Amino acid sequence: IPVDPFDIVIFGGTGDLSRRKLLPALYHRYLDGQIDDSSKIIGVARTELDRQAFNDLAKKACKAHTENFDEAAWERFSERLHYLTMDATNQDADWGALKSLLAKDTRPVVFYLATTPLIYVDLCQAMARAGLNTPNTRLVLEKPIGTDLASAQAINEGVGAVFEENKIYRIDHYLGKETVQNLLVLRFANTLFEPIWSRHTIDHVQITVSESIGLEGRADYYDRSGAVRDMVQNHILQLLCLTAMEPPNNLDGDEVRTEKIKVLKALQRFTPETAKTHTVRGQYAEGLVEGDPVTSYVDTLSKDNSDTETFVAIKTGLDNWRWAGVPFYLRTGKRMKERRSEIVIQFKPTPHALFKGADQAPNRLVIRLQPDEGMQLYMQVKEPGPGGLRLKSLPLNLSYADNFLVRYPDAYERLLMDVVRGNLALFMRRDEVEAAWSWVDNLLESWHDGNQPLESYAAGTSGPLQSAMLMDRDHREWWESK
Ligand code: BG6
Repeated sequence: IPVDPFDIVIFGGTGDLSRRKLLPALYHRYLDGQIDDSSKIIGVARTELDRQAFNDLAKKACKAHTENFDEAAWERFSERLHYLTMDATNQDADWGALKSLLAKDTRPVVFYLATTPLIYVDLCQAMARAGLNTPNTRLVLEKPIGTDLASAQAINEGVGAVFEENKIYRIDHYLGKETVQNLLVLRFANTLFEPIWSRHTIDHVQITVSESIGLEGRADYYDRSGAVRDMVQNHILQLLCLTAMEPPNNLDGDEVRTEKIKVLKALQRFTPETAKTHTVRGQYAEGLVEGDPVTSYVDTLSKDNSDTETFVAIKTGLDNWRWAGVPFYLRTGKRMKERRSEIVIQFKPTPHALFKGADQAPNRLVIRLQPDEGMQLYMQVKEPGPGGLRLKSLPLNLSYADNFLVRYPDAYERLLMDVVRGNLALFMRRDEVEAAWSWVDNLLESWHDGNQPLESYAAGTSGPLQSAMLMDRDHREWWESK
């Protein structure tokens, strides 16, 4: 699908996000013909670099994150790249140089803030003073937007004083993942599921985002943040919203976002007492991850100790009509045994056990977000053979890889092009971010007030024993991929 010519300015242009995600995403969109030769990609950062040095940095980054790097295409793409050394929060910064690089027509100009959120407000004010808030401007804010509700409100307030809400694109890259978007299609383009998508038929829901990686050079940030702020506040709650929300009237930005926010508002909260029985905080000790020895979290930080959680398991629920009484179990962690993100819908047992003596497993729908994207619907079948009646649980298997031979664009590719097109549906609205923080604040306060213990787990496992016990108390267990 063609995209109109646009200019993009990346503040934090030499940073980790720019190198790992944004520049490779733009390169791929260029290869697919979605970036016009008149478009400019302008990196801005404090690092002293000339244009050639920025091109070299960008080339290295794109080579490292592209499967079929093409030299000739790179040469053409690199002509789109520009770089400005600039401390954009400084009153005396040279905004004139930036303005003279931008096109003078009415094309969209995307300002991507890939810096620390601490400077978002200053940066926006400086942009406004420089006259860069025009009808064509689109502002992209990376997570984390704040570290709690109050700081998120302060950022939203400050940015909102300069830019109108419909120009602000708050990114959660999980919403750009193919399989996450497929969740909407699965729920709302199939007649099969919607009638059974409720407490009448569903026993419980599990959402797991497990990672085998550790801190990846982000120790400072992570130790101040922890798994709840880093993963639950955004990605996991977004997955929960898409799983649980009511059908929107249409796919316009506000319709979808209004349905998601209703879910956030219905989420059950904790007290210090219920946090003890409904949640688990964990931190990894040394262990073996995919066969390789790894050091403990505190050793990675080169600290004597840390109270930051690298794992969390949560039992919650939604106080609303559709989901009353249905537990939602959420978990995420670093240095776990594998990289795997899944949503598991477990259905209720049949009302009457006809096949006495046979092992009867419940139906399950396993939506695999990554890796090996796809879906499996576990059914009960009769094992062949003349002996007694034996049942077996087997999946109807829909694998993306078997059905689609195309490359799946990275989430950032999709989202960046949505920004250019002005499509807000996959971005977070201010009230959504704040509702998510409000729920997270309550969880973190409950932990704090109740001195919630920090459980240890060996790196390379499924998390602390207490996480399995949380399920066991409900006579359930975490779904482990087969
Ligand atoms: C980021 C978190 O938002 O998401 C990281 O800050 C995490 O800690 C990453 O590793 C996971 O993203 P993905 O796309 O690899 O699942």
